[in-house]
Amino acid sequence: MKILVTGGAGFIGANFLNLLVPRHPEHTFVNADKLTYAANLASLASIAERPNYQFTRVDIADAAAVDAAFEEHRPDVVVHFAAESHVDRSISGPREFVRTNIEGTFNLLEAARRTWGTDHGLFHHVSTDEVYGSLGDEGLFTEDTRYDPSSPYSASKAASDHLVRAYHRTFKLPVKLTNCSNNYGPLQFPEKLIPLMILNAQDGKPLPVYGQGTNVRDWLYVQDHCEAIWTVVNRGKVGETYNIGGNNEVRNIDVVHKLCELIAQETGRPSDALLGLITYVKDRPGHDLRYAIDASKIRRDLDWGPSETFDTGLRKTVRWYLDNGAWIEGVRTGEYRNWIQQNYERR
Ligand code: NAD
Ligand code: TYD
Repeated sequence: MKILVTGGAGFIGANFLNLLVPRHPEHTFVNADKLTYAANLASLASIAERPNYQFTRVDIADAAAVDAAFEEHRPDVVVHFAAESHVDRSISGPREFVRTNIEGTFNLLEAARRTWGTDHGLFHHVSTDEVYGSLGDEGLFTEDTRYDPSSPYSASKAASDHLVRAYHRTFKLPVKLTNCSNNYGPLQFPEKLIPLMILNAQDGKPLPVYGQGTNVRDWLYVQDHCEAIWTVVNRGKVGETYNIGGNNEVRNIDVVHKLCELIAQETGRPSDALLGLITYVKDRPGHDLRYAIDASKIRRDLDWGPSETFDTGLRKTVRWYLDNGAWIEGVRTGEYRNWIQQNYERR
């Protein structure tokens, strides 16, 4: 099989390729990525020379470039990760989210429809639980929960999900969708909560907690997400959606406390000094209170479940960031410094 992986130089895409390229020499994986600020080819160093891996630089918002990539590679499967993915950036600059997440997905669907017709191919759309909006204190998101996105990011992902389903219903394009909760693990760009806190703690910088720190996320180790996607690609039903989650709800402030304890254990630094860095800052506008996934469909139908607990996954993650100084220096570009300065000086 030839598998076109969009956004394979980002956090989840790179973990997906690092896991599957060595395991499946019988498949060819083509990584099509624009290489935005969030991408890092260093994340793919261990597979870059493998004969079943190729990289091509493509902006999915450029229809002609998408058509040319389909023409050249003639993929059998698309696993679509490419997106603008950070909620705070979607608040300060939403345009790129509409362009990449909505128009980019549309361009891929059009190219897939032209190339495959109705009886060939598979378009696997990687999406988020944020499309469902916010939960109150009770309840879980199921595949039937009504869409109610809060941020420009989640609204753009919701629009892309609707397009994917519409292409299935209207044009019979073979599609599958997965909506997953918050991921964490190696290779995550340090604008997101967990890597940002690890790096700031290491540097003795403030740990900025939005609002009261009582918002809840359902954390899943990234490799568990990748295994779930691969399971759905291979054994999921065409036209279906599967929610993926870790059954692991944690309040943000408790995540930060856990990280301080782990960093203290791993580095021998006193945990009190790390906890003392916690700083409550102005809340995110439209901040969803709680996300939590009911993953019983994928468990029941496809026998998928996570391998890591939050304790084992978080320890691995902390260790990875402590051990990978060169990767971290590589992503701390001027653009990264500007973002951190702009986002946190306004709070
Ligand atoms: P990321 O921001 O780390 O990586 C995104 C990748 O997409 C980057 O390599 C970037 O260069 C590429 N990209 C961006 N715009 C592009 C364009 N116009 N053309 C081609 N490539 C482009 O994101 P991530 O965290 O790896 O998320 C991957 C996917 O998973 C996204 O679709 C996201 O919505 C979804 N998702 C993420 C999470 C999470 O917790 N991170 C959870 C559920 C779903
Ligand atoms: P984030 O990692 O941006 O993921 P998402 O917004 O997609 O869930 O944020 C996770 C949670 O952590 C969210 O409730 C916002 C909060 N947060 C902070 O408290 N401080 C921070 O510096 C960041 C980046 C996030």
